[in-house]
Amino acid sequence: MPDQGDKRDMNIAVFASGEGTNLQALIDSGERKELGKGKITLVVSDKPGAFALKRAEGKGIKTFVLEVRLFPSREEYDREIIKKLKEEKIDLIVLAGFMRLLSPFFVDEYEGRILNIHPALLPSFKGTHAIKDALLHGVKVTGVTVHFVNKELDDGPIMLQEEVGIKETDTEESLEERIHKVEHKLYPEAVKLFTEGKIKIEGRKVKILE
Ligand code: GRF
Repeated sequence: MPDQGDKRDMNIAVFASGEGTNLQALIDSGERKELGKGKITLVVSDKPGAFALKRAEGKGIKTFVLEVRLFPSREEYDREIIKKLKEEKIDLIVLAGFMRLLSPFFVDEYEGRILNIHPALLPSFKGTHAIKDALLHGVKVTGVTVHFVNKELDDGPIMLQEEVGIKETDTEESLEERIHKVEHKLYPEAVKLFTEGKIKIEGRKVKILE
């Protein structure tokens, strides 16, 4: 992986299973040269029909689709993805709505180089229904978290967080819309900080260097 003095771009693989609005925000930021030294060179999906793949293809970004059901175990599935990531010389993995937990084997291989975005202020509302859970719980403030991935679900060191207030009139859809807006701003910022070498992980804490 290139270090801070290196001139080479950092190759980014975005993992997505669904709509890919975060992928789109990252692609747009890249086109505006706002991803620092990062360049999205691969989009990985576990869902052949994911709209995220269409977004990538539309921009001429390589895609790699691998369905979990075709593999006897999670580790073998992850091994196949890792093989592809190595071939493509990927430096940073950005999970953007990838609906699978990476195996410990995968995390060991790339720990400190896997980012995830979560639609709540972690450690509150972990899991796949974070927006609904926050609404049902009645919290007044929720938000967005960008964090490094470790072996536990939604648990790794937190890089960036931003609040989103909840209104009494909010539905899941209206809240999701405001959360997405924040995600689309925060994720490119996080990627830029990482690719410019401004991030230092110290235990559970992530320091942002000036
Ligand atoms: C986002 O809300 C993200 O926080 C969560 O999955 C959703 C993905 O949305 N991890 P999209 O596919 O980027 O539109």
